[in-house]
Amino acid sequence: MLPAKLTLALNDQFNNELQAAHAYTAMAAYFSKKGYHGFANFYLVQSQEEHQHAMKFYHYLAAMDEKPVLQALNEPKNHFERALDVLESSLAQEKDVTSNIYALVTLAGELQEHATLSFLDWFIEEQTEEEKTFRDLITRMKQIEEGGEYFLKMDDEFAERKL
Ligand SMILES: [Fe+2]
Ligand SMILES: [Fe+2]
Repeated sequence: MLPAKLTLALNDQFNNELQAAHAYTAMAAYFSKKGYHGFANFYLVQSQEEHQHAMKFYHYLAAMDEKPVLQALNEPKNHFERALDVLESSLAQEKDVTSNIYALVTLAGELQEHATLSFLDWFIEEQTEEEKTFRDLITRMKQIEEGGEYFLKMDDEFAERKL
């Protein structure tokens, strides 16, 4: 068992990760429609990763004899102006998740819940990586905005991404 307040916060993050998966699938759909299948693949894998994050919370709650409770998903952003818009939305989303994780760490610390602190360590590192991924992609995209050829090469490269 965990303190009720911590259980609620962990359960919210379980649902936030599912929401992130939902949002990334919408981004994949944007690229599929545009015919950028590499980018679509990249975002579908990203969505699967977020689902795996959600399941880490699911299994942690279950292991602590708490019940994961599913909440309604919000409609994600479905309309984008261009690829850069998608990447910037992705970075903004990751920054939000980082704040949520930090708030969870603060709460677990206040409650002296060491097992939860240890569980959350992985997410702190993951968020650093996720933010870096999108920050680097935004930089690259801005650098190649005029170069259509290079953009296509990047699309081919993304097609190789595997889970
Ligand atoms: Fe995540
Ligand atoms: Fe993420």
